[in-house]
Amino acid sequence: MYLTKEEERIYDGEHGWAYQVSMKILVRLGDLFGATKLIPIKSAHISGVSYKTLGDAPIDFLDTLASAGAKAQVPSTLNPSSFDTDHLAKNFPQEYRAQQLSIIDLYKKMDVRPVFTCTPYYIRKPQVDSHLAWAESSASVYANSVLGSWTNREGGPSALAAALIGKTPNYGVHQPENRRADVLVKFEVSPRNQMEFGALGVHVGKLVKDKIPVFEGLSNYTNDELKQLGAGLASSGMSTMFHYKEPYAEKKVETVSVEAKDIENTIESLSTTREAPDLIFVGCPHCSLSEVRNVAHALKGKKVREDAKLWVCTSRYVKGKAEKYIKIIEEAGGHVLCDTCAVVTWINKLGIDVMMTSSAKTAYYAPTLNKVNVSLASLVQCVNTACG
Ligand code: F3S
Repeated sequence: MYLTKEEERIYDGEHGWAYQVSMKILVRLGDLFGATKLIPIKSAHISGVSYKTLGDAPIDFLDTLASAGAKAQVPSTLNPSSFDTDHLAKNFPQEYRAQQLSIIDLYKKMDVRPVFTCTPYYIRKPQVDSHLAWAESSASVYANSVLGSWTNREGGPSALAAALIGKTPNYGVHQPENRRADVLVKFEVSPRNQMEFGALGVHVGKLVKDKIPVFEGLSNYTNDELKQLGAGLASSGMSTMFHYKEPYAEKKVETVSVEAKDIENTIESLSTTREAPDLIFVGCPHCSLSEVRNVAHALKGKKVREDAKLWVCTSRYVKGKAEKYIKIIEEAGGHVLCDTCAVVTWINKLGIDVMMTSSAKTAYYAPTLNKVNVSLASLVQCVNTACG
């Protein structure tokens, strides 16, 4: 991989250990995946924030980087944390809280913005054709496919290294020829709601693995539904993006057909139970303003059952813009949570054994990561179940 003189100096440690190790991570990745050089990025989004998913091991590494004075060179944001301070924090042991807060402090020291959301594009939408280094698979797939930006699916360490250097190696979907569709997906009937879009994503992700699908003839979709499609796709497969509107820029291509029963079977297989849920969770990935509004409309005039919780997860930014909807949700007995979600917090420590969700991504991960039973349902079913 070609390095400029300045990049070589960083690589040799002239700017200190933290930048040297970051440069080494990027060069190693670039060499591995056939990059020819580093390219500047407009922003980085960093996962690996929740203490529940991160554990203790990486804290020393973050501490050493922060103590060595490393600072993000481009606008950089953080994925959700394991709790919010307003609502959940008090339920967890002091030791967990202390470790989580120290992880957050270390990122803050490195000038990474503690926005704690997996939908950073609602706060600041990246420009079309801009190069990014975003971790959080649902966000990177959305950025490539819907927003027209260019980012590989970074892991936490590579996104942080890119933030500290302000550059990323130019492999993968940073190259136009790697953004063309490999697999044409034809379907019998279009998905009808967010749950079905997510389930379509999970089904196709399993089939295409790391290839790029093009969904031909998708009609009547919203960006919220495309977000669910990408989140599902990124859960069961390794695709970095998908296409859905012409011109598709196909490579040519194999074809797969999806029938209505494939979606039904996926929804069925993502549901490990049909027992009554303790928690109904909406907002994976974190809700947009229109999704918060839809929940509020569905809840109007209803009350959440005494024996169930309804969580609507979003960013503080979106919550700040949704005051009148939040009021409706809270008056109905629901909670609007920021900074976290049901997957990256310890829901089993909150006495939750059965969860209902409208998100195929959550249904895909929660049985393993949270050791709960899950049922996947549409938003309307979720609200009706919450209100009994
Ligand atoms: Fe976001 Fe949590 Fe889902 S981090 S993508 S809401 S699993």
